[in-house]
Amino acid sequence: MQLVTEDNITELAAARWGTAHDPRTAEVLTALVRHLHAFAREVRLTEAEWIGAMQWLTRTGQISDEKREEFILASDVLGLSMLVVQMNHRLDPAATPATVLGPFHIDGSPELGFGADMSDGLPGVPLYVHGTVKDLDGKPVAGAVLDVWQADTDGLYESQVPDIDEARLRAKYATREDGTYCVRTIAPRGYSIPMDGPVGDLIRQTDISHFRPAHVHFLLNVPGYEPLITHLFQEGAQYLDSDVVFGTKQELVVAFEERPAGPAPDGGESAVPFVEARYDFVLQPKA
Ligand code: BEZ
Ligand code: FE
Repeated sequence: MQLVTEDNITELAAARWGTAHDPRTAEVLTALVRHLHAFAREVRLTEAEWIGAMQWLTRTGQISDEKREEFILASDVLGLSMLVVQMNHRLDPAATPATVLGPFHIDGSPELGFGADMSDGLPGVPLYVHGTVKDLDGKPVAGAVLDVWQADTDGLYESQVPDIDEARLRAKYATREDGTYCVRTIAPRGYSIPMDGPVGDLIRQTDISHFRPAHVHFLLNVPGYEPLITHLFQEGAQYLDSDVVFGTKQELVVAFEERPAGPAPDGGESAVPFVEARYDFVLQPKA
């Protein structure tokens, strides 16, 4: 008979989970057991706290669906998502850094031409984001696809708006022969992460700001280069120093410069004043 004590339970459980058939699974699960037990010992977890945590996890699962990933949100606000991104994307300091994907990317965005408008008449200040996609040697990358998405001026992404049957504030733009790209959209605003679920319940018990600074998301999956998931943030935006998901990096903060009506970055004319953000993405070749 296996005699279980407070002192030997951790070793017994780790040994049991160490029998996982795949060596990596065994490594991960035994470490998980050790850290969970160490955590419970450190905080002297009470039974009321333990059941509270189980109920919180249950609610987190219950509120999640294909459009709402509350567990990922929990990982984001705990800093785990960003830690995993940083450990797995130790890029050259000259390359554009990676940040969190977030829960609002949707596959299959429409392909738009240079300077075409992905905001499709939604209210907001016109914004052009443009520049070049290059490699570490400064060589332009032609045909690189930039998958772009953002929230509207109320802070809502397409998946948060009911009854949408067309792509909303998301599109794919390919670079031209000289590596240049031009996105036409509307200036984003800072927004709150969803606060009506278990993550919001926890955050409300703290002094944590639940906002993200104004940003546009980019995903570049270019053959021969490390895939890049990142954002560009508006310089001077509120919440840059307190991003609730730890996604900000100095290298990704870009000036959004106000321009009068007239020549626009796509080579045409803008009938109304607009905002211009210039950014060159630097891709790291695959190892
Ligand atoms: C976002 O930027 O879309 C986002 C990222 C993490 C959590 C919530 C939102
Ligand atoms: Fe976002």
